[in-house]
Amino acid sequence: MESVNYHNAAAMLAWQIELGADECIGDVPVNRYDVPPPAPKPAIARIVQTAEPEMPSEIDPVAAARAAAASASDLDGLRAALGAFEHCELKRGARNLVFADGVPGARVMIVGEAPGRDEDREGRPFVGPAGQLLDKMLAAIDLSRETSVYITNVLPWRPPQNRDPKPEEVAMMQPFLDRHIALANPDVLVIMGNHSCQALLGKRGITRLRGDWVEAQGKPALPMFHPAYLLRTPLAKREAWADLLSLKARLRDG
Ligand code: URA
Repeated sequence: MESVNYHNAAAMLAWQIELGADECIGDVPVNRYDVPPPAPKPAIARIVQTAEPEMPSEIDPVAAARAAAASASDLDGLRAALGAFEHCELKRGARNLVFADGVPGARVMIVGEAPGRDEDREGRPFVGPAGQLLDKMLAAIDLSRETSVYITNVLPWRPPQNRDPKPEEVAMMQPFLDRHIALANPDVLVIMGNHSCQALLGKRGITRLRGDWVEAQGKPALPMFHPAYLLRTPLAKREAWADLLSLKARLRDG
């Protein structure tokens, strides 16, 4: 084997000399066809997660409503702020914003619950059957939306299928209602129905609450049966009549 290697090596050397090689540059042969070993991968810097990645902060719809309502300096501004408010789902199902009707600045401000189908279509509160009864009730004590009463609702958009307002919807619209009352600045509030009592007095139970003057938003306030309830329960009109007389007396004496 040794001699074979010697003869092979001598033959390769002779062949290289023949090719023109005249200098020895290394002690060990270099195989230029060898595939070089892969370069070591650069060390991957360990990613140390110190905090949650920053997410865009979620909008608090009640805070947004508070800011929008506070930005309104008059009733037109408040209507515009409500019209531009995009955080209440009810708006998407409604045809119109139902803001108010009647005389802005009137001594009496009526707060109903939410628009129904007719109100949604017309964009005015209390224009359906309950509204027609309300107009008759007001006329009985010489009041009207044309001359002496301002009317709004807790919710400015119709809930689908006239379902009850959800607490979170009422909470979201509350800053607008509070601002609405402050800007309209009536002498007295008439709070119609349970949902309105919940929003303005923080309690319900209209059968117990009705007829007793209380304070809401710093104003004298009279809870009354809702006209829609009176349509279903005509016997309750007797109490409603007593409450109307109480309202009339308050306006006369106050
Ligand atoms: N019921 C309400 O409470 N408000 C309206 O506008 C109509 C019906």
